[in-house]
Amino acid sequence: MSGTVDEWKVARRRKGAARKSKLVQVSSGSTCCQEEKINIDKTVKRIREIVSEIRCEEVLKDWREQLSVVRSEVLLRPENKDSEEPTVLLETSRDVRSGQRLECVCYGLGTFSSSVSARYQLAMLLLLLESEQIPLKDCSVYDPAFSHGEKDVLRELGLTVLTENEEGKHLTTKPTLFYLMHCGKALYNNLLWKNWSKEHLPLITIIGNSFSGMMDRTIEREFKRDYGYITQAVSVCEERQLPCPSRLTDVFSDTAVITFPNSGLVRLPQSTWMVPPEPQYQHCPDLEIIQKDAQS
Ligand SMILES: C[S@@+](CC[C@H](N)C(=O)[O-])C[C@H]1O[C@@H](n2cnc3c(N)ncnc32)[C@H](O)[C@@H]1O
Repeated sequence: MSGTVDEWKVARRRKGAARKSKLVQVSSGSTCCQEEKINIDKTVKRIREIVSEIRCEEVLKDWREQLSVVRSEVLLRPENKDSEEPTVLLETSRDVRSGQRLECVCYGLGTFSSSVSARYQLAMLLLLLESEQIPLKDCSVYDPAFSHGEKDVLRELGLTVLTENEEGKHLTTKPTLFYLMHCGKALYNNLLWKNWSKEHLPLITIIGNSFSGMMDRTIEREFKRDYGYITQAVSVCEERQLPCPSRLTDVFSDTAVITFPNSGLVRLPQSTWMVPPEPQYQHCPDLEIIQKDAQS
C-alpha cells in the first residue's frame, strides 16, 4: 500500500517531460508510451478478492451506515418536503422522495493494476455501488493515467469509462455520488464551480478528502486565491469523517462524506451565485491535476 505517492508523482510528470523508464506502468490511452500488458481476467479476479475481503470488514459497515444517515437526512431536508419550490428543486425532491437511484462519478482512482491503494479504493467503490443500489453502468470512471488494459478491466466489471478529461467539470442534473479518493484540490474546486448554484449543489454527495482538512494543510492566502469555491463551500457544507482502520491508512485516510444542504447554501451572499468565474489556476505552480491541454 505504499505505492500511492510514487505513482502520483509519475502521473503528474507526464504533463511535462516524461521519464520513460517509470512511465511504463501508468501510461494513459492518450499518450504514445509503452504500455504494460495486463491480464484482464487476473486483474478482475484480484479486485473481486479484495471486494470479498472488505465485505467482511467493519469499515464497510461504518461507511454504509454513514451514507445511509446522509441519505435519510437528505430526505428530511425542508427542500425535499412537499412545498412550493422552484422547478429544479422540485425535480430533486421528487427524485429523492421516490427513491430514485443515485448516479456515480469516480475521478482519480489511480492505476489499480500497479497500486494496491487504488485496488482497495476500486473494491470499496464496487461495494458502495452495491449498497446504494447504483447499477454499475451508472457509475462513470475517469483517470488520465488509466492504461488501455485498466479501462478494459473497468468495462469488464460493468462500469462506464469516460473518454474525455472533464477536469472535474461535471454538471450534475440528478442526485450523484462523486468518489474522489485522494484527488487534487482543483478537481473538487472545478466540480463545485460547474455546479455552483442552489439548485445543483444539493444534488451532490462527495466521498473524498475533507475540505476542512485540505484548508488546514494549505497556506490560507494561497488556498483562498486558488480554490475559491472550496473556500466558500467549507463553511456551508456538511462533512462527516469516514472511519479508517489503521491497516488501511494509505488507502482511506482523511476521507469524508460531504453534502451541501440548502440551509447552508442560503447563508452565502447572493452575489456568489451570479456568473461564477471559471477557475484558472494561473498562480498555481504545482497544480495537482492533469488538464485537458496537457494531454494532447
Ligand atoms: C494522488 S493520486 C490518487 C490515486 C489513488 N486514488 C490513491 O489514493 O492512491 C491522484 C489521481 O488523480 C488523477 N487525476 C489527475 N488529473 C485528473 C483529471 N483531470 N481527472 C481525473 N483524475 C485525474 C491522477 O492521474 C491520479 O491517479
